[in-house]
Amino acid sequence: MIVGPAARTGRLTGDPRFVVKFFVSTPVNLMKSLPHKRVMSLTVPKKILFVDDNPQVLEGLERMFSMLEEPWVLAFSNSGVDALAQLRTQEFDIIVTDVRMPGMSGAQLLQLVQQQYPDIVRIILSGQRDNDAIFRSFNHAHQYLSKPCSARELERVLAHACTLREALLNEHLSYVAEVATLPSVPDIYRQLIDLMADELPPIDRAVRLIKQDVGISVKLLQLANSARLGKREPVYTVEQAVADLGLETVRSLAIADEVFYPLEPESHAVGFNSVDWWRHSMDVSYYTGELLNLEKADREYSAIAKVSGLLHDCGTLLLATQRPADYEQVLAAVTEKGLSLYDAETEVLGVTHAQVGAYYLELREIPPPIVEATGFHHQPSSSPAMKSIFLAALHAADVFTIVKRSAMGSNPFDYLDLPYLKSMGLEAKIPTWLRCCVS
Ligand SMILES: [Fe+2]
Ligand SMILES: [Fe+2]
Repeated sequence: MIVGPAARTGRLTGDPRFVVKFFVSTPVNLMKSLPHKRVMSLTVPKKILFVDDNPQVLEGLERMFSMLEEPWVLAFSNSGVDALAQLRTQEFDIIVTDVRMPGMSGAQLLQLVQQQYPDIVRIILSGQRDNDAIFRSFNHAHQYLSKPCSARELERVLAHACTLREALLNEHLSYVAEVATLPSVPDIYRQLIDLMADELPPIDRAVRLIKQDVGISVKLLQLANSARLGKREPVYTVEQAVADLGLETVRSLAIADEVFYPLEPESHAVGFNSVDWWRHSMDVSYYTGELLNLEKADREYSAIAKVSGLLHDCGTLLLATQRPADYEQVLAAVTEKGLSLYDAETEVLGVTHAQVGAYYLELREIPPPIVEATGFHHQPSSSPAMKSIFLAALHAADVFTIVKRSAMGSNPFDYLDLPYLKSMGLEAKIPTWLRCCVS
């Protein structure tokens, strides 16, 4: 059994129901239910192209790989131009590049790779703590590593990248990798930009704003969790992410071109109500936290649950803004065939917003409990993870919040995953939980 980081630290343990056995499962399980064009196995050699203008770095990487167990096939390149020449003649699974190189930068190289070879996993291996250079590559890299990097860390990130590569070959999910950042709620975006124009913006106000926005929260959690910061413990909350990154980094991100951007009304599917979607995300975040407070969960645990609540429907925003025409077909299937949104997504898209959202978060190295909760918030009993009150609370808050808004009819029992709640002995809690969420 893999024991999660929180269980190792013991910070989130206490009531046995809250023991973080939830971390057992990985999002890889989410992909298993989906058809793959091609199945990769860790026993099949993976081809990696390393790009760095410093020959000593390339030699060091070659030495490091001689210590690793996985069957990797390596190629090396000392420039972006040479790397593109190699990509034209050979197939690669992963490209790992330095950021600062003479001629073509790592950001420019990854942008071209993204356009020309979208199913190659793109990783930055940067020696500089140079925020500007990193930010320029931010929209083109899947993951980040800092130099020097241990063999174990490199192997962990590459194994993760292989999982991504497998999913990138899934025709129902491949477009998710191309999404850089989800658009922000216009009002929150503007308030944050205004706030960051101050020389000394108050950190508590910044955190309060960011916690209300899915796109910005995901981006900060991604950056804080990225290996380049050399962190061992996952970062679960916006407070933690801002504290780790520093307000100056957040400020640079906020004012950098194209990192954050507001949602434009004409840029999403007709029929998608972004205000309702945002209010629902905020409500689910709040009530998931409240339900865990009712159950006397650890405060830190409730904080993670609230983040999951905020992000749980990020797949809907992604579909409505990145695949608007497809999403309009989904909405038409709901109206014309009387299908639930979830069933209409499966029929039209081959995947649901829950799977799309979980995959989006997984690509950004958001910690597994949040990815897992996002992927299974409609059907927690499908989760291969062990029982978790965390997922149960998110699921119940989602159902009760929707019922409260009468978007799904009035009987929550039609939508609750009762077998899951019963299996956890939570059936008797349902009336109290319902009162908490609808009062
Ligand atoms: Fe949902
Ligand atoms: Fe929802």
